[in-house]
Amino acid sequence: MRYQKWYQKHTSPLEGKVAVVTGGNSGIGFHAARGFLSLGAEVVLACRNKTKAEAACERLLAEFPHAVVSYMPVDLSSFALIDAFAAELGQRHEKIDIFLHCAGVYYPRETHTADGYPMTEGVNFYGTVRLAEAVLPQLDRTARMVFTTSLVDRFGKDARRAGEGEGYAAYARSKHLLSAYVMQKAAKRGKNEPIFVATHPGITATDLLAPEKTTHKPLFSRLGHAFLYIFTHSPEKAALTAVFAAAGDVENGACIGPRGLFGISGYPHRTRFCPSVRRRAARPLENITKK
Ligand SMILES: NC(=O)c1ccc[n+]([C@@H]2O[C@H](COP(=O)([O-])OP(=O)(O)OC[C@H]3O[C@@H](n4cnc5c(N)ncnc54)[C@H](OP(=O)(O)O)[C@@H]3O)[C@@H](O)[C@H]2O)c1
Repeated sequence: MRYQKWYQKHTSPLEGKVAVVTGGNSGIGFHAARGFLSLGAEVVLACRNKTKAEAACERLLAEFPHAVVSYMPVDLSSFALIDAFAAELGQRHEKIDIFLHCAGVYYPRETHTADGYPMTEGVNFYGTVRLAEAVLPQLDRTARMVFTTSLVDRFGKDARRAGEGEGYAAYARSKHLLSAYVMQKAAKRGKNEPIFVATHPGITATDLLAPEKTTHKPLFSRLGHAFLYIFTHSPEKAALTAVFAAAGDVENGACIGPRGLFGISGYPHRTRFCPSVRRRAARPLENITKK
């Protein structure tokens, strides 16, 4: 593990705790899972692809041979599969201490979810929220629910375009709505509910734009990746914001992002939700997606 000094200074042990990570087989979720394991937590990877998830479990166990790591299937593009996951999680674990929502898509190949939502908004917002609400009873006041949003949430305020296809605008909107949801949940936190925290990882080169899962042109993806590797931070460092949100000194309603220039890279620090997210969060929850 890199960043040991940072871990020693900024995180608390997680021994005896159970952490669930959606999208934990890859990128930021995978490195956050590594961070949780290094702090002593038991980790459940909640993933849509069994082969990738099992390979990730193997990699984690090779690095942390005494750890407890498991995989549970979930697909955020189907409410039925989300509900089935939540029911199964309840059977397997009496209590969840950390729930990190990290699964997400950008320019996905599939156009719509099983429930008819455009895929980006369907997974990044509707699926994530459905899952959060479904597992909430398993997280008590001592627990933390952490959501992975994005720097571009500030560019997604135009809800008029909801449902109009995919790409950057849909991605920005999905993260804008998600950030507003986190603010609302934190503001209305029930007395036996976990704290709600938003994180964004800055920018990092992961599989988010891997040619097999996006409609981006392969050449564009490759060039983009090369650019990101040179000018931004690694997925391992980007995951520190999630680790900090889960194991650092963080309060309900916090927004954690990298502290470097424009929030693109660097070690985590407390940042602020942007004004357009704050305005949307001021609406009633049921109207959050309305224009
Ligand atoms: N990379 C960045 O610069 C950046 C910046 C801001 C925010 N983020 C956010 O960070 C999060 C993690 O992304 P990443 O960069 O680490 O990309 P990644 O490596 O592609 O990880 C995304 C994860 O989400 C999973 N996923 C996608 N659709 C899913 C579905 N329908 N059901 C369940 N799981 C699903 C993927 O599974 P498969 O492996 O099976 O595809 C993968 O495990 C995302 O929410 C992303 O929006 C990333």
